[in-house]
Amino acid sequence: MGSIIIGNDHGALELKLKLVNWLADKGHSVCDCGVNSAESVDYPDIAEECCRRFLSDGFDFGILLCGTGIGISISANKINGIRCALPQNSFAARMAKEHNNANFLAFGGRIDYPEPVETMIEAFIGSSFQGGRHQTRVDKLVRLESC
Ligand code: RB5
Repeated sequence: MGSIIIGNDHGALELKLKLVNWLADKGHSVCDCGVNSAESVDYPDIAEECCRRFLSDGFDFGILLCGTGIGISISANKINGIRCALPQNSFAARMAKEHNNANFLAFGGRIDYPEPVETMIEAFIGSSFQGGRHQTRVDKLVRLESC
């Protein structure tokens, strides 16, 4: 079972609580560095805290949640070493690992997805990075961090 860090703003509190319980029931160790109230906060602060802890404490992957998943994923992707995907469905979640070697998934607490978020997370967990030509592309992507 994996170790997962999760962070959320006020726009995804319900989704965060649901996912933390589900992941824990599945036997994962979950570190919650998000908010636990409906009080308005700024998603870049949550992304920064969660990504810094991911990079220093060695989790398997992270999950970031805000109203749409957009602001928190954009914020996370500003940080060197973070590749945060915002999957639309479980195919995209699988590709995020197989092709992009993503280390974070982002979702929106106010978005109606075509599949349960849990199904998308399972698709990500159940896949492996394919390397080869995808490694070349990820290496190029990582080089953009110095632009
Ligand atoms: C907060 O109201 C909302 O803007 C935030 O959760 C997120 O959706 C931003 O991208």
